[in-house]
Amino acid sequence: MEEWAWNAFFHFSSIPSFLPEIRRQMKEEILALEKRALAELDSISDHTELERFRVTYLGKKGLLTSLLKRLGELTPEERPEAGQLANKVKTALTRKFEETGEKLDSGTARKDVDLDVTLPGRKPARGSLHPITQVLQEICAIFVRMGYRIVKGPNVELDYYNFEALNMPKDHPARDMQDTFYVSDNVVLRTQTSPMQVRTMEGQKPPVSVISPGKVYRRDSDVSHTPMFHQVEGLLVDRGVTFGDLKGTLTAFVHQMFGSETRLRFRPSFFPFTEPSAEVDIRCVICKGKGCRTCSFSGWLEILGSGMVDPNVYRFVDYDPEIYSGFAFGLGIERISMLKYGIDDIQLFYRNDIRFLRQF
Ligand code: DAH
Repeated sequence: MEEWAWNAFFHFSSIPSFLPEIRRQMKEEILALEKRALAELDSISDHTELERFRVTYLGKKGLLTSLLKRLGELTPEERPEAGQLANKVKTALTRKFEETGEKLDSGTARKDVDLDVTLPGRKPARGSLHPITQVLQEICAIFVRMGYRIVKGPNVELDYYNFEALNMPKDHPARDMQDTFYVSDNVVLRTQTSPMQVRTMEGQKPPVSVISPGKVYRRDSDVSHTPMFHQVEGLLVDRGVTFGDLKGTLTAFVHQMFGSETRLRFRPSFFPFTEPSAEVDIRCVICKGKGCRTCSFSGWLEILGSGMVDPNVYRFVDYDPEIYSGFAFGLGIERISMLKYGIDDIQLFYRNDIRFLRQF
């Protein structure tokens, strides 16, 4: 506090007690003094300031002492209450004064000026790519090296692209397999990345070679299903494309993804938009084919669906099936990631547990 302010305060506190309104203000004065003193203690940063504080407030001629002396001016009825309050304040200020002294000694007191710029800084925690993002990028990189172009499409998709033009009319039983989130009668959250086949072919003539990574949605949730998951779709159409090309391409992919020793097999299957269709299995990466829980003791793991594009699909995009042929495939990123890293619960990917995520 400034010199003049102290003087004013001393002057004020020695105003004769025959002014009754001043006396009534005694309680407020004590509280105001406490407030000011505590605030001042908070800003003290060295022992010199602390000593000055002691003399000013707690010393023999200090402000608190002179307030206590003035208690004598009160009437006997008024005295006990004001006295108690003043003593409480004195105890509180004394304790805080001592604590501040201890803090200064141990170096934990506020120091505005003492900044040690030579201390090492605190390292901010470094983030990393989500395992799903990492695997997705790895898959895309493999196909980009083979000459595929990456295309992306809408998550909220027309029924037409998600089902209709993929040879799945409204009453098609295959729709049941993909528990769909409907936005309206004709709009869905896409259940697969396959609609990008149609969108791509609509926009260009062959040759076509694209992959389309992204989120897909199904009403499903357990240890191997989440309502949102990721797929990568692949499509190649040109003159004279055969099932042999499909096998060669997917074999090259599996060998790069899981190692060149990995055996794979093509198993006949059905998808409405490919004919013939095949599911691709790889030798179980956990037991190497001996049989274990992960592969349900079959020795094989299913990793993707594929096939030759059904001529019916070409009709929707105005491609002549007599001239062009092609193949398509679709794979689930979560599934591939689980197999690659030996993860047995898909939900782990989306719990945001840093201990899990840090391992990748
Ligand atoms: N869209 C299929 C699914 O989600 C996967 C799929 C199978 C994609 C065969 C294809 C394909 O392109 O040819 O189950």
